[in-house]
Amino acid sequence: MAEVKLEHITKIFGKDIVAAKDINLVIKDKEFVVLVGPSGCGKSTILRTIAGLEEPTDGKVFIDNIDVTFIPPKDRDVAMVFQNYALYPHMTVYDNMAFGLKLRRFPKQEIKTRIDNASKILGIEELVGRRPKELSGGQKQRVAVGRTIVRNPKVFLFDEPLSNLDAKLRVQMRAELSKLHNRLQATMIYVTHDQTEAMTMGDRIVVLKDGKIQQISDPINLYNNPDNIFVAGFIGSPSMNFIHGKITGNEKIFFVNENVRIEIKEMIVNGIRSFINKEIIWGIRPEHLIPVSCKEKESFDAIISVVEPMGNEIFLYLDLEGFELVARVESQSGFKVGENLRLKPHVELTHFFNIETGKKIGNLK
Ligand SMILES: Nc1ncnc2c1ncn2[C@@H]1O[C@H](COP(=O)(O)OP(=O)(O)OP(=O)(O)O)[C@@H](O)[C@H]1O
Ligand SMILES: [Mg+2]
Repeated sequence: MAEVKLEHITKIFGKDIVAAKDINLVIKDKEFVVLVGPSGCGKSTILRTIAGLEEPTDGKVFIDNIDVTFIPPKDRDVAMVFQNYALYPHMTVYDNMAFGLKLRRFPKQEIKTRIDNASKILGIEELVGRRPKELSGGQKQRVAVGRTIVRNPKVFLFDEPLSNLDAKLRVQMRAELSKLHNRLQATMIYVTHDQTEAMTMGDRIVVLKDGKIQQISDPINLYNNPDNIFVAGFIGSPSMNFIHGKITGNEKIFFVNENVRIEIKEMIVNGIRSFINKEIIWGIRPEHLIPVSCKEKESFDAIISVVEPMGNEIFLYLDLEGFELVARVESQSGFKVGENLRLKPHVELTHFFNIETGKKIGNLK
């Protein structure tokens, strides 16, 4: 059992740098939770608070319902992998992995058994005699993870452990860490600013901005039902398109701006009527902008500015007088820069946001 609970955690550095604000979060036993958000949003601060490397200004940390807020890191039974791996350069891989166990006075044979086991899991048996400078980035990363596995902690904490790796290795290590989680059945909390990493690894994702939780959800729901414009724009690549316009109409309701006039059915966007004559923001994912022939109703024109063939699909960058849009379409030829393209949004799958609060309008999805 290893449940981590954060209750009203606030961390203020100096006088007024609010790194985390009233964070409430329960990470269940064996769960893989990812904290994601832009640089400076408080991810590392929250992780370090769980590890005991930072003392919160306010609030409490519980591990298995025990208040550990003022318990030193070494007594918390958590192990952390840092972005820079923090390996001891003068020690061999074996000694790096043994170090924490020696400090805790484990018997030699037990240390060996644990290191053999972890090395096998990570496929680094051949490397135990080397020093860190004789390892590649991916190998160093494995050793850093190995050092935590041998501890057999209740909770694994990862702070951007893949960010020093090249793109291909990152994808590979991502899958390996997911497998490791399945194999160890341990509670893991993982910090990243990369939304792809978050989406592919997390059982649940916590999106942060300016020290505050924006939304907590499983990856699919987060993508399909973002609570606010920040989450909508942060999750997904290419990002969601945002078009500003006004809600008008009477019996029928429309989203309109200079170039667009599309009917919005009330049954699709609950509460849209209360925005009549108000400015709102329409969010459309690139895959929900469908190229159509000119005759189709409920569509609008945009000019193709860039064509990016990805092989299995094409990203079309489009100019809609003042708004740059991107559409993700099937791979086919015939899209030419400078030409007009008629687009029909898949309205039922799109999102409308209150321009003042950034919150999503309606909840019938
Ligand atoms: N020791 C410190 N003293 C003062 N300010 C700090 C300290 N540590 C972090 N901060 C500030 O707290 C805020 C959150 O920092 P934190 O390191 O948690 O962000 P992060 O989300 O991990 O960012 P990154 O993705 O860049 O690692 C930032 O504004 C940062 O400058
Ligand atoms: Mg950080």
